[in-house]
Amino acid sequence: MSQNIFAPMAHADLDWIVDNERELHAFPWTRGNFVDALASGYSSWVMRHDGEPAAYAVMLLVLDEAHLLNISVAKTMQRRGLGTICLDYLFKQARLRGATQFFLEVRPSNAPALALYRRHGFVVVGRRKRYYPAAGGEREDAQVMRLELDR
Ligand SMILES: CC(C)(COP(=O)(O)OP(=O)(O)OC[C@H]1O[C@@H](n2cnc3c(N)ncnc32)[C@H](O)[C@@H]1OP(=O)(O)O)[C@@H](O)C(=O)NCCC(=O)NCCS
Repeated sequence: MSQNIFAPMAHADLDWIVDNERELHAFPWTRGNFVDALASGYSSWVMRHDGEPAAYAVMLLVLDEAHLLNISVAKTMQRRGLGTICLDYLFKQARLRGATQFFLEVRPSNAPALALYRRHGFVVVGRRKRYYPAAGGEREDAQVMRLELDR
């Protein structure tokens, strides 16, 4: 049976993460963004699947709110349920820290992420105009989604 193990993100993970980030996102986080997230104490995780790094996530916890800042599954490992496992783990961590609601922003053009979030019960609660950089110097709106966490 396959094993998925979560560990707090560490500086030693950043080479792998930054490589993946460049492969997965048109506008990737930089190494500096991850270093800042670690320094700020954000809830940051790497998931290993059968010993191999497979996914990572960064979440900000403020009072009773969790905010997803990044969730990424390595290209070759996608569509095997790992994003789902990762999200469920974040929900568990968020509840443990007293969060009752979970928020995220997503590009309306990111169909895989939208499908993942909808499947977990997230609903659209707003739109942030011109939130993301987009191709050709344009900007793309963000959809804001929210999920009430079960106690
Ligand atoms: C979004 C992402 C995290 C999903 O991870 P994943 O491990 O592939 O997701 P899962 O295998 O758990 O998929 C769960 C469900 O999400 C939906 N989904 C995932 N990938 C999809 C795709 N490419 N197309 C359509 N639906 C998709 C499906 O409903 C899927 O269930 P199914 O496989 O039974 O149909 C992954 O595609 C990714 O890392 N993308 C690049 C980074 C990114 O955009 N992150 C989100 C914004 S920060």
